[in-house]
Amino acid sequence: MAYPSLNRTNGLLGAFGVLVLATGPLVAIACSGDEGPKGETGLAGQPGPQGTAGAPLPGGGGAADGGSILSGACTQPCHTFGGVVDQWRFSNHSHPQENLIGGGPCGNCHGLDGLQQRVANKFAIAPDSGTPANVPSGHMNYKTTAGPVTEIGYGGATTIGRIHCTTCHDFNPTNDPHVVGKYVAGTARIRVPGGVDDTVFIEKSASSSATTGQSVAYKTANVCVMCHKSRKDVTSYIATANVISSSHWGPHEGPQTDVYSGKGGYHFAGLTYGTSAHAAIGNACVGCHMTPAAGNSNVPDHTMKPNVAYCKTCHTSYTGTDFDIQGGRTLVKNALKELEVALNDAALLTRSLAAPYAPLSDDDLADGQFNLDLTRPGSSPGGGNLSLDALTAGALYNYLIIARSKDLGVHNPTYEKQLLWDSIRQLKGVDPTSLASRPQ
Ligand code: HEC
Ligand code: HEC
Ligand code: HEC
Ligand code: HEC
Ligand code: HEC
Repeated sequence: MAYPSLNRTNGLLGAFGVLVLATGPLVAIACSGDEGPKGETGLAGQPGPQGTAGAPLPGGGGAADGGSILSGACTQPCHTFGGVVDQWRFSNHSHPQENLIGGGPCGNCHGLDGLQQRVANKFAIAPDSGTPANVPSGHMNYKTTAGPVTEIGYGGATTIGRIHCTTCHDFNPTNDPHVVGKYVAGTARIRVPGGVDDTVFIEKSASSSATTGQSVAYKTANVCVMCHKSRKDVTSYIATANVISSSHWGPHEGPQTDVYSGKGGYHFAGLTYGTSAHAAIGNACVGCHMTPAAGNSNVPDHTMKPNVAYCKTCHTSYTGTDFDIQGGRTLVKNALKELEVALNDAALLTRSLAAPYAPLSDDDLADGQFNLDLTRPGSSPGGGNLSLDALTAGALYNYLIIARSKDLGVHNPTYEKQLLWDSIRQLKGVDPTSLASRPQ
């Protein structure tokens, strides 16, 4: 599959984010108009400024006055040191990506207005296409009239990839604090419906006869599902014969929903796959990744970093400071390593970006950065591309979704160990040495 490049313009931008005010069109507002006063925000942690909201911002002219506009209307909870805007800057969501959004599918998730377009049912399709259903709820794959499964294209016009406030939030003239002059708690509406009955889709269909996908319901985390998923309908993606002709075969980066839901892996026939206790977490992804920030009016933390204090609300006897609760991550890390070695021995993994695609080196195998592994074209004994049967391709696919989920057994401990057990057995023909048994 063709895979246009999409590179971060600058990996250091995140570090500079504290010093440099965002200049995107979406934040060109009175309270971020110039750099001078920014230094003072360190002191502005005090609450109570809400009352001053009425005073500033006469029709947006504040920026022209330059300077003393850090009133309470702007600080809490957004433009204060460690506020939502700083938090967002420290997350990878703020990284600008120079990319070829163009007419391909990439802008649907990497474009500033990717979600806005999709929830408005705006997207591009092939001329000879079928009819994609449920696009506003996140489903992307559909069958062309000629047969093959393909993915909807981006319907907007942006060229720079970046996940900004308005990507997720429906800020408009009725609730945009830059327009109305103050922040009213609870009005930062999410674009994707997040009520208890609202559903969103991952691509995996129940059978290969119809490309319908499958729904999940994660309340406010429905918005995360729109982007953090494999983009592949594994049910039809894995065929009788699978030719590894690209280093980007398999699930896309960020297939966390496929793992967390316990649905998105390749399921070997005759086996059952369980869900995890973590399915009970209120608001799913948001529950762990956006805990209320006590120092910032309890607005959800936009760094997207989970914290152990939250884990301990359930894991009450855990006294550690990292996420390796009951050694669960160590187990999954060891199992991923065992599967990585087996796949590399089968000439299926590489980190090369161009031919000749070298197998993983000893250093690659030792660094535990499983998510960097790519699939390896040109590795057949004759130099051509390997063709894999469905079971081997399924094991490779399972490795990639767990590696790229980057959680090492936290998202769905039971499911991840089941997939790893089955996939290692498939490749090696014997029980894994890294896991004691297949969890039920
Ligand atoms: C369904 C939404 C979706 C679509 C469509 C999509 N991506 Fe992504 N992409 C993501 C997510 C989410 C991540 C980040 C995952 C993570 O960090 O775990 C990501 C990560 C990436 C990365 C790694 C970014 C980095 O800085 O490490 C690259 C490169 C990338 N995507 C390129 C593309 C290209 C090229 C296309 C179009 C062919 C595309 N993506 C289409 C959701 C998507
Ligand atoms: C990746 C998606 C995403 C991005 C990007 C994002 N937010 Fe949020 N935001 C959320 C989610 C999810 C919640 C929790 C929703 C809820 O509780 O209803 C939230 C909650 C909030 C809240 C509190 C809820 C309310 O209605 O008052 C504010 C304020 C807020 N965000 C502001 C911002 C600002 C400002 C930015 C940009 C700097 C931003 N967000 C970027 C997803 C996002
Ligand atoms: C519009 C698409 C989109 C949405 C919606 C979205 N993300 Fe992301 N997310 C991305 C992309 C793209 C990246 C990778 C950016 C990069 O690495 O350059 C990413 C990165 C991340 C990361 C890694 C961040 C870091 O700083 O290390 C986390 C964690 C994350 N997202 C969680 C979430 C959660 C939780 C939600 C829902 C509240 C969410 N995302 C919603 C596209 C999205
Ligand atoms: C049980 C709590 C929990 C839930 C629920 C959860 N995550 Fe995570 N997630 C984690 C932990 C812990 C990590 C590992 C973070 C680390 O290593 O620093 C992680 C890692 C990630 C990463 C990689 C972050 C990075 O630094 O590269 C992304 C992206 C992500 N999760 C997104 C999601 C999405 C999307 C969902 C919902 C489908 C979700 N998570 C549900 C706890 C959770
Ligand atoms: C809603 C309650 C709840 C929350 C919140 C929660 N967990 Fe769990 N977790 C459980 C339960 C229940 C189990 C399964 C029973 C067990 O093994 O203790 C479990 C299992 C695990 C396992 C597998 C342990 C093993 O034996 O292999 C890991 C790892 C884990 N959780 C990590 C985390 C992390 C990290 C967080 C926070 C980011 C978190 N959990 C938050 C309830 C929770």
